[in-house]
Amino acid sequence: MKKRLFSGIQPSGDVHIGNYLGAIKNWITLIDDYDCIFSIVDYHAITVEYDPRQMQKRIINAAAVNIGAGLDPDRCILFVQSQVPEHAELTWILNTLTPMGLLERMTQYKDKSRQNEKNVNVGLFDYPVLQTADILLYKGGVVPIGEDQLQHVELSREIARKFNMRYGELFPEPQHLLSDAPRIMGLDGKTKMSKSMDNYISLIEEPGTIWKKLSRATTDENRKRRDDPGNPDICNLYTLHKYFSTETEIDKVNRECRSAEIGCIDCKKILSDNMIKVLAPIREKSLNLMDKPEEVLEVLDAGAKKCQEIARETMGKVRSLMGLR
Ligand code: TYM
Repeated sequence: MKKRLFSGIQPSGDVHIGNYLGAIKNWITLIDDYDCIFSIVDYHAITVEYDPRQMQKRIINAAAVNIGAGLDPDRCILFVQSQVPEHAELTWILNTLTPMGLLERMTQYKDKSRQNEKNVNVGLFDYPVLQTADILLYKGGVVPIGEDQLQHVELSREIARKFNMRYGELFPEPQHLLSDAPRIMGLDGKTKMSKSMDNYISLIEEPGTIWKKLSRATTDENRKRRDDPGNPDICNLYTLHKYFSTETEIDKVNRECRSAEIGCIDCKKILSDNMIKVLAPIREKSLNLMDKPEEVLEVLDAGAKKCQEIARETMGKVRSLMGLR
């Protein structure tokens, strides 16, 4: 029997190359080694203000981009979190095992409450417990994520341990799995690439916009003039070359940047051409699917059906261990 793998992505804005390199690309490589379940986590996305009229479109688009990027729904389960209400039920139960102090330490909660000062709601605080419920509902043993989710997965281990100790052995302690790009920085080179900031390149970005965004992106800030030698080690765009350019190009850029044979614009042009090439098939397939929302919904409904069954079974065991009816 294959080990169960669980991961999720929020339908809150454009799926970007940070999500792709940090998570989705890794999911695709793991798809046959594990029994994989991936979720579009809409219950997580409602913890910040949003437009309800846009939510269905955002869910469909997020699913379409994941499939467009290569997440084959015939080889995994892809579903929408809110179609399985047991996520909320298990969250309530796990809340009773989670010390407030542990949640107060979560850096994402601190960051998000700073960003959403007017709406620091209980859901935002409880977010990591919902994430734990996501994983444990399916007894997920392996959780591939980007670095920003590490603390949440560590917490899920602690909560699983507490449940098992208090009520009896039921849940595996989830282990995180990082990709080779666990933290892609935004185009400002200073903050993590993020859907909520204007510092990303979307996976379905138009070619012209990719160039426009890259041409404005921050490089080695010590390189003031074209003739100054650059330092690729501290240049965010050089890091991106590693995921989009060939070995030969990466070596050449490294060498010729240090010797000032090429300037930042030359380096950006090579990166832009390569990124456009790599993203073209993803963009084409994703846009195609977005034009056929009923096909995407069919995939998601089939996924939800399978998850509902697993979730019902887990909750049966949880209730019985806890002495509930
Ligand atoms: P979300 O939607 O913010 O991001 C989805 C995945 O992309 C990764 N990621 C990045 N990786 C590298 N560099 C970046 N700049 C970058 N930005 C995002 C994230 O780490 C994530 O793996 N809370 C989660 C979703 C979630 C979940 C779960 C994940 C809900 N339940 C259960 C795992 C297991 C989130 O907001 O991801």
